[in-house]
Amino acid sequence: MQATMEKPLLELRDVAKVFRLASGEVTAIENISLAMNAGELVALVGPSGSGKTTLLNIIGSLDRPTHGDVCLQGERIDTLSEERLVRFRREKFSYIFQDARPLRMLNVLENTLLPFNFFKPADRNGKLKEEGIEIIRSLGLGHRLYHMPNQLSGGEIQRVAIARALITRPLVILADEPTANLDRENRLFVIQTFRNLTREKGLTIVFSTHDLEMAGIADRVLHLQDGTLVKVEDGDCCPCPSN
Ligand SMILES: Nc1ncnc2c1ncn2[C@@H]1O[C@H](COP(=O)(O)OP(=O)(O)OP(=O)(O)O)[C@@H](O)[C@H]1O
Ligand SMILES: [Mg+2]
Repeated sequence: MQATMEKPLLELRDVAKVFRLASGEVTAIENISLAMNAGELVALVGPSGSGKTTLLNIIGSLDRPTHGDVCLQGERIDTLSEERLVRFRREKFSYIFQDARPLRMLNVLENTLLPFNFFKPADRNGKLKEEGIEIIRSLGLGHRLYHMPNQLSGGEIQRVAIARALITRPLVILADEPTANLDRENRLFVIQTFRNLTREKGLTIVFSTHDLEMAGIADRVLHLQDGTLVKVEDGDCCPCPSN
C-alpha cells in the first residue's frame, strides 16, 4: 500500500437504491457511506434481503444508485456513460458469484482466459496463456489445467472462478456469497486465498456471506440490516491455519 495515497480506493457517500415496481417502491439500501482502501478484505453480512447483493452490485458498478455518489480512485463512477462504464468495469473490477458456472465446452485454462474473448489488453499479447497457467497453479489446480468443468468438484469450480477473476488484473474483486455451496475446507480455502491476495497483491476484495466464521477472516465486517449499515467491526485475526 502506498503511504502517499490519501484518498480511499473506493468511496460510497450516502448511497441509496430504490427499486420502482408496478406494485410500489422497494428501498433495498439507504444511507450507506463507506470507504475502502487498497489491500483491504471486507465482508458483508446480514440477513436475507438486507441488501448485500444490491450493495455489491453498486460498489462494482453493475448497478447505479438512485441516490448518492460512488467513487473509485477519486473519480465518480455512478455518473459515467454506459459505454465508459463498461470499459471501466472490465479494467477495474472482477466478479465472483455463488454459483460459478464455467462454460461447459471449455477446459479450466480456456475458462480462465475467457474474459479475453471480449477484450484484449495490448500490453499482454502472447503472455496471457502463461499467466493463466501460473494463476491456476497458484490456486492449487495445476493438475487440472485441461480438465473440463464436469470433471471438477464444486471447490475446484470456484477456484476456476477465482482464476478468471484474477486474469484481468482488477483493482477490486466483488464476490457475492462465493462460498455458499462449499464445504468448510473449501470455504476456508477461498477466503484464505482472498486474504492472501489482498495482503500480497494489494487487491481490494469485498465478499458477502452468511457464514460468520468466514466473515471473521476479513479485515472489516460490515453488518447490514433492512438496507442500512448497522455495525462495522474489525474481523478477528484469522481463526484457522494459513495455507
Ligand atoms: N431488482 C429488484 N427489484 C425489486 N426489488 C429488489 C430487486 N433486487 C433486490 N430487491 C429487494 O431489495 C432488498 C435487498 O435485496 P438483496 O438481494 O440485496 O438482499 P441480500 O442481502 O443479498 O439477500 P440474500 O442474503 O437472500 O442474497 C430485498 O427486499 C429485495 O426483495
Ligand atoms: Mg444476495
